[in-house]
Amino acid sequence: MLFKRVKPLDQILATAAKKSLKRQLGAFQLTMLGVGAVIGTGIFVLTAEAGQKAGPAMMLAFVIAAVVCGLAALAYAELASMLPVSGSAYTYTYGVLGELIAWIVGWALVLEYAVGASVVSVGWSGYMNGLLANTDLFGLVAPGALALPAYFRTGMFAGGGFNLLAFLISLVVTVLLVIGTSKSARVNAVLVAIKIVALTMFVIVAVPAAQSTNFEPFLPGGWGSPLGGVGVLGAAASIFFAYVGFDAVSTAAEETKNPNRNIPIGLIGSLGICTIFYLLVGYGAVGASGAQPLLGADGMPLDPGSAAMAAACAASDALVCSKEPLAHVLRALGHGTLGNLIGIAAALALPSVILMMMFGQTRIFFTMSRDGLLPEVFSKVHPRFHTPYVITIITGIVVAICSALFPVGKLADTSNSGTLLAFAMVSVGVLILRKTDPNRLRPFRVPLVWVVCPLAIFGCVLLFFNLSITAKEVFGGWAIIGLFVYFLYSYKNSQLAREEEK
Ligand code: ALA
Repeated sequence: MLFKRVKPLDQILATAAKKSLKRQLGAFQLTMLGVGAVIGTGIFVLTAEAGQKAGPAMMLAFVIAAVVCGLAALAYAELASMLPVSGSAYTYTYGVLGELIAWIVGWALVLEYAVGASVVSVGWSGYMNGLLANTDLFGLVAPGALALPAYFRTGMFAGGGFNLLAFLISLVVTVLLVIGTSKSARVNAVLVAIKIVALTMFVIVAVPAAQSTNFEPFLPGGWGSPLGGVGVLGAAASIFFAYVGFDAVSTAAEETKNPNRNIPIGLIGSLGICTIFYLLVGYGAVGASGAQPLLGADGMPLDPGSAAMAAACAASDALVCSKEPLAHVLRALGHGTLGNLIGIAAALALPSVILMMMFGQTRIFFTMSRDGLLPEVFSKVHPRFHTPYVITIITGIVVAICSALFPVGKLADTSNSGTLLAFAMVSVGVLILRKTDPNRLRPFRVPLVWVVCPLAIFGCVLLFFNLSITAKEVFGGWAIIGLFVYFLYSYKNSQLAREEEK
């Protein structure tokens, strides 16, 4: 009964057909869209987290996460080209697996997008704090005079007090979204260029400074542990965050010329470009300054974000402790100005990633509210700005509070838990639709679907179990709250249920 409440695909498509968009994006624009959405806190900040879990072997973690993402990207592309509508994985599952699973996916996407926005806000604050502590404003102030007190630099659960800058940037982005700022293609192109130039500069300086001794021991955290959160697989589960965002490409399916050719090029192209950069940056960071983890009394790496790690970092200048690892490496190599420049690049480019994440969140809530699964007030549109302002403000406040209190790595793992569930469900959806609706038009088809999708599902499950214990606990708690909300509210108020009653 529960699983029967499936929204017919034609009904979903009819909603989209009402506002069809012009097909104008080509392969290059799509690739840039992907790169713009993908490069962010993951590479700029979580490199330190990955180093703490895996040591120099974090480079393997970058490859594993890229492969899982690549497989899931293909599945996304098939559904996105079949159902070019907003709401992403939530909408796809509504049409394939029914309302309850769609609800669970939509609820999990809150983790992906809202918590993801917090991750990027905390990452941004790390670089801004580094800049404030290192700049002398061209001789106008003494170096360090602008630094915030330590209490305001990191959150309460990250060994500090209140992460003021992360809190403020989340609120600024919220205001921009309420007044209707969206990312223009031109601004995106400039920001992509800034990120690529910054990473290229890092690679040019750090890679030649690499020393082979910095790669030993190569696997200090091993491959992983049954509880997760450590080793190469633990690092892959965290660094997975660095690849999230490529679904921006698949959600543009409706606006793409020749989607069968251009969507896979855009997805695989942007993931490929990011993977190459990430590997070079990872190699440069490890090789130039070493990325050995800080070990606990048991000889295993300390858990990043834990009190023990914060205490160990208080007396250490290691890369794995840095909140701005790429700038840290350049400064350690004696390039203080380049360190500041990379900080400026991160400070300029990361807010657009926060914007994208928060935008995604509000649109998912919007779609769920329009479907009756969340109260109608959530889809209330501002009379002047034409934006869903109620839900944007609520989301923004929650994002700001999370950013102000929690450590970046734990937030990233929590965000990934939701993303991994959504990715796995999209792959399941592709397989089911191949059986139940084989004749529907598929502008893009996953090649070797019975190999690719099962592998994508396996990869997502593997990474999920390798997330930190805290993230899995939060995920479980969040899912239980979600089920309560569904059965106490959404089940009765669903539009589909009301239509069935008629
Ligand atoms: N992949 C994006 C980032 O790393 C979300 O910030």
